[in-house]
Amino acid sequence: MCGIVGYCGPKSAKSVLYGGLKRLEYRGYDSAGISVLDADGKVQTVKSVGTVTNLDAGTLPDDASTGIGHTRWATHGGVTDLNAHPHTSGAITLVHNGIIENFETLAETYNIERISQTDTEVLAGLIDHHFASTGSLKDAVLAALAEVQGTYGIVVMSPRQPGTLVAARKGSPLVVGVGRDEHIIASDPQAIVSHTDNIIFLDDGEVAVIDALNIDVYNLANQPQTKMVEEVEQAAEVNMAGFGSFLEKEIHEQPSSLTEVMRGRISGDGRITLGGPDLTADQIAGLDNILIIGCGTAYYAGMYAKYELEDLLGIPVQVEHASEFRYRHAAYSPSTSLAIFMSQSGETADTLAALEEAKRRGVPTMGIVNTVGSTLARSVSNGGIYLHAGTEVSVASTKAYSSMVVALLMFGGFLADRRGQRLGDIRVLAEDLVNLPHEIELCTKLSDPIKAIAAEIAGHSNWFVLGRGNLFPIALEGALKVTEVSYIHAQAFPTGEMKHGPISLIDEGHISVVLLPEDKLLYDKSISGVQEIRAREGKVLTISSRPALEHSDWHITVPMVGHRVSGLVMNCCLQLLALHVAEKLGRDTDRPRNLAKSVTVE
Ligand code: G6P
Repeated sequence: MCGIVGYCGPKSAKSVLYGGLKRLEYRGYDSAGISVLDADGKVQTVKSVGTVTNLDAGTLPDDASTGIGHTRWATHGGVTDLNAHPHTSGAITLVHNGIIENFETLAETYNIERISQTDTEVLAGLIDHHFASTGSLKDAVLAALAEVQGTYGIVVMSPRQPGTLVAARKGSPLVVGVGRDEHIIASDPQAIVSHTDNIIFLDDGEVAVIDALNIDVYNLANQPQTKMVEEVEQAAEVNMAGFGSFLEKEIHEQPSSLTEVMRGRISGDGRITLGGPDLTADQIAGLDNILIIGCGTAYYAGMYAKYELEDLLGIPVQVEHASEFRYRHAAYSPSTSLAIFMSQSGETADTLAALEEAKRRGVPTMGIVNTVGSTLARSVSNGGIYLHAGTEVSVASTKAYSSMVVALLMFGGFLADRRGQRLGDIRVLAEDLVNLPHEIELCTKLSDPIKAIAAEIAGHSNWFVLGRGNLFPIALEGALKVTEVSYIHAQAFPTGEMKHGPISLIDEGHISVVLLPEDKLLYDKSISGVQEIRAREGKVLTISSRPALEHSDWHITVPMVGHRVSGLVMNCCLQLLALHVAEKLGRDTDRPRNLAKSVTVE
């Protein structure tokens, strides 16, 4: 989603900002812009719809040493050069992530002139209004923020206070990189790590006044705050490593990302040890309900785990969309429940808001997160599990999903062990998990046959993905993946639900991808479902660990694996299917239209 970079220091601001915006490209955006303060104290801005490379950055002065940059994902106002950030109003130039909900009222109250359709320009006008009376950039920002409803991560500059940037956050992440005689502000450490490992994480309700040498942080009541400089691990340079896209690369990386999420956590004797969850023995023993909360793919990872954890632990597992959970009064007992928040980025606005709601209700909260130091990881009350999947660039999540499922399954085994459940069951789970990276590697080798099937079915624009038992959540995730990257209308149903409505859509142009379970009884029932579709001339692709069927049009045979992880091998095939169908249709597989990697607005 929107990305922010700001710079003050001895280097050419435009090249630091341009490089930072390029590193944020993977988050998804529709336009970009850079403003710098030139030697004459004037603001010079370039903006453009499309990618960062469309920016005419060459026209900006090389010697400007203060500036701000932005990648926009439209919320208020269409995708136009005029609506792209930075926005200037009077003596204020600013970039903004988030949504100012009361912008229309503010524009009317202060008679703020606008040339764009954005809420951001109103915020610039409001700060400018207060700047005229206070004469201090920080005081003007504080006064404006006191009137604002909504969410923001902002960086503000003014020719009247050259060399200074003022940053503030509420609900949208901001970090400050501390370099030698320079500071770099960004919405994502990814934009900073090529310059410095030393980072200050701003918290919600903080305002930072930054120049090349100093950073002073205040709360919204203007009281000074003490901040720590933290050392973050240098992120490895992210490239496609010879693959055609990041999506393809990340699918193929799963054998190693799965190894990483299990590294040091499963011992040779099949015991699962997790150092991250911070739960007392009493909390674990008294647990009678688990809530798993997330958005998109993270939610579906929770759905898969529900099937396995309820079976393993014998307690209910509720899986909730964060966007629903945050506004409804879910029924659970805070003292005997545990809420687990799932997120690749750790910055998804709905997930963070749901976390606050859970904390307000007093339930212990844990995170399962990929991005180290993200807001979610820093805000949970009872620790969690890092995925260590490495940077995921493709908007459609693949390796983070499989690592989330494995993290949840490991957590189930960890809880079962501490609750004194049968060690035999836990050891079987551990063994299934340990074998998984190799089995997923075998699945990635099916890429070519899957590509051949994709070429034949890509032209069909309506699909079902069907599964039973723990394969139903895999069907949900598979349908999401196909929809996200190929724009095909793919919908998931439990195979047994077909007769209750969906079958009315079946005709000779309709594709059903049917995931066949190992279990004999459910397998036979699923085959009946396949036959019912075929009887209505629907086309069927089956995926199973058993060999090809005479009654399906296409078939993929996956390795036979342990029951609790069987969905993940099917999932890998569905990821490859989505990739190859999208390629066949000429889609941008890494940055599908209208989507963003990290959704930092509601
Ligand atoms: C966006 C992305 C999805 C992702 C979801 C949750 O919608 O496009 O791929 O699953 O956000 O993101 P998170 O970072 O919280 O896992």
